[in-house]
Amino acid sequence: MSNIERTLSIIKPDAVERNLDNEIKDIFKSQGFSILKEKKIQLEKFEAEKFYKIHETKPFYDDLCSYLASGPIVVMVLEKEDAVLGNRELMGATNPKEAKEGTIRKKYGISIDKNSVHGSDSLENAKIEIDFFFKD
Ligand code: CMP
Repeated sequence: MSNIERTLSIIKPDAVERNLDNEIKDIFKSQGFSILKEKKIQLEKFEAEKFYKIHETKPFYDDLCSYLASGPIVVMVLEKEDAVLGNRELMGATNPKEAKEGTIRKKYGISIDKNSVHGSDSLENAKIEIDFFFKD
């Protein structure tokens, strides 16, 4: 049975700054993801805090939010069979040093903060995150 899902992907400031957005989009497309919606934006810090609220209690929360708001990002709705898990596999481990060969974070990630991409971690969060950026 087919299980087409949508997930949210963000190309983070470190990757946009290095003009890697088109290259990363091509990787998603080559792996069968359709990019249904996309926009390049820059968040205010309070918006980044709202987006990452789930991490509010973590010691890295403030730095994480400052970083996400530090420059332009590209946000996308990706669609594919089992898109949530597929995107997480394609991104690789949160820490680029631990990411497997062939993953986006292994290829482009600089550090655990500057790890080039974000992807929803569950179908439930995908819906929340897609609404956060694309509710019209
Ligand atoms: P992301 O998938 O966007 O979700 C939260 C982000 O917090 C994560 O990627 C990392 O870039 C960042 N982060 C910073 N420090 C840590 C940490 N110790 N553990 C997990 N995530 C971290």
